[in-house]
Amino acid sequence: MCGIVGYIGKKEALPILLEGLRDLEYRGYDSAGIAILNQGKIERIREVGKVDMLVKKIAGKKFPGSIGIAHTRWATHGGVTEENAHPHLAGNGKLVLAHNGIIENYRELKKEIKDQNFESETDSEILAKLIFQNYSGDLLKAVKMTLPRVRGTYGLAIMHADHPDEIVVARLGSPLVVGVGEDEYYLASDVTPILPFTKQVTFLDDGEVALINRQEFKIFNLKDEQIIKGVTQIDWDIETAQKGGFENFMLKEIFDQPTVFEDAIRGRIDMSEGTAKLGGLNMNLEEMRAIKRIILIACGTASYACLAAKYAFERLSGIPTEVDVSSEFRYRDPIVDEHTLIFAVSQSGETADTIMALREAKRKGGVVRGIVNVVGSTIARETGAGTYIHAGPELAVASTKAYTNMVAILLLYALEFGRLHHTTPATGQRILQSLLQIPEKMNEILKQSEQIKILADKYKDYNDFLFLGRGINYSVALEGSHKLKEISYIHSEAYPAGEMKHGMNALLTPDFPVLAILTQNQLYEKMKSSIEEVRARKSKTIIIASVGDEEAKELADDIVYVPKTMELLEPLLNTIPLQLFAYHTAVALGRDVDRPRNLAKSVTVE
Ligand code: AGP
Repeated sequence: MCGIVGYIGKKEALPILLEGLRDLEYRGYDSAGIAILNQGKIERIREVGKVDMLVKKIAGKKFPGSIGIAHTRWATHGGVTEENAHPHLAGNGKLVLAHNGIIENYRELKKEIKDQNFESETDSEILAKLIFQNYSGDLLKAVKMTLPRVRGTYGLAIMHADHPDEIVVARLGSPLVVGVGEDEYYLASDVTPILPFTKQVTFLDDGEVALINRQEFKIFNLKDEQIIKGVTQIDWDIETAQKGGFENFMLKEIFDQPTVFEDAIRGRIDMSEGTAKLGGLNMNLEEMRAIKRIILIACGTASYACLAAKYAFERLSGIPTEVDVSSEFRYRDPIVDEHTLIFAVSQSGETADTIMALREAKRKGGVVRGIVNVVGSTIARETGAGTYIHAGPELAVASTKAYTNMVAILLLYALEFGRLHHTTPATGQRILQSLLQIPEKMNEILKQSEQIKILADKYKDYNDFLFLGRGINYSVALEGSHKLKEISYIHSEAYPAGEMKHGMNALLTPDFPVLAILTQNQLYEKMKSSIEEVRARKSKTIIIASVGDEEAKELADDIVYVPKTMELLEPLLNTIPLQLFAYHTAVALGRDVDRPRNLAKSVTVE
């Protein structure tokens, strides 16, 4: 996720662009830049860090002009540097482009570019150069010629020095909105920067390209047919707009999951070979085959994502895989050698415990890689190799979309290792086909949010909860319990269902509701028996079951159905109703959902 802003009209563009960037900073904040077109020349300025850093750099300088574009970056390709910050230039500064999204086939496109002098490591600069290469006097035409060649996602804003009255914008998979003023237009990745100026907007749809000048804007599809669209009146305030209309960031991020999951796996699967292609490992096949043990180190939610992935690593690759909470790993004098691969998994990439643990693993000679969301973060830099999970900025303290994307990336690694050992191409292909269906299935679950809200209202006054799961769903139970604790402040525990009879049963009473995950996998019958035991102690049961499972109803006081998928993929779906349950419970209890007490988004102390 990145943020794009643009303006064309009669006013000075600079203050509008800078204010707009501030409004969009929640979409990305590792670097920012602006480009203004004035008297046939494009002036550009960029800076690493938040928008304030850019504002400081601009202070005292003049950037006159009433047409410009700007960008705040959430890095995907290329590190956090000024060179990689947008907007990107092409054609000796004649063309400038701001991009939000990922160009999957950028390597292929790069080969076609005549001017091989690249300023940045970004996929976006390649696109800028390609559009410039296709330009012969008509900017819109050049964009339309280029975009059909692009695989991936984009929200784009482009200017050309010879067209002082034009901004061309385009959208595929990344949002773009045009605000309609009087002889002026605003554009942005969401309505937030536009609202102070106009409430009249037009949302671009995927596959649309628009030419904006001071008098009008025209939308076309890539077949060059003009599209006539109406204007929508927006009544949101700015805060609501940043949250995409959701009540708070956590709910927005829960609902972001189908989209960002696609970002995580895009360009990383090889269906014909039934495997994954995650370049970040930086190991050749021989080095990969030499790995005899895998250790996943992480904290909190990230550690539960790792636990879900442990099942996949062991089942697909046969490589013994352990999950270690970072704060314990470091002080346990862990056994690590050059045949041990350690993945340090973290949303923020700044968690002190995980940083210390990965340093310890390095010191002991292990092969250390990062699986991180925040590009350029300490863990990303210190591991030097690994994979970004592409969840986009996660602002709510309770992690949701980063969890599902961590599971996705770890699963892809498990498959990649699996294909070097005993996983067949056919099994690999089945897993990948199932992965591709996950976003649609996530949407099916999200549609039940209101139903889960009713459940949350019903159960919100209990003081204790128990989350039960078996096998891979034990990891889901842990994450569900963690979420409920964090944001509702209700005491809860997670248990592997088979272990109940060894102690936990003593606590069961009618006042101790049990949330059990009973999807139809190899442990289904065993899990049913455990739920029977719970019911015998008169505890209420809320069951997460597979669609169509009528038998599960007989065991449930309340039930939530989730679509079926392969067992190894179940955490990607089964966790979502638990996120929603925790969320609605916390809201019903009047908690500060995005900023729960005593917690921080990034825990930078040991
Ligand atoms: C998740 O909801 C929590 N806020 C917390 O457990 C978090 O997962 C943990 O602190 C690890 O953070 P990281 O992923 O940024 O390393």
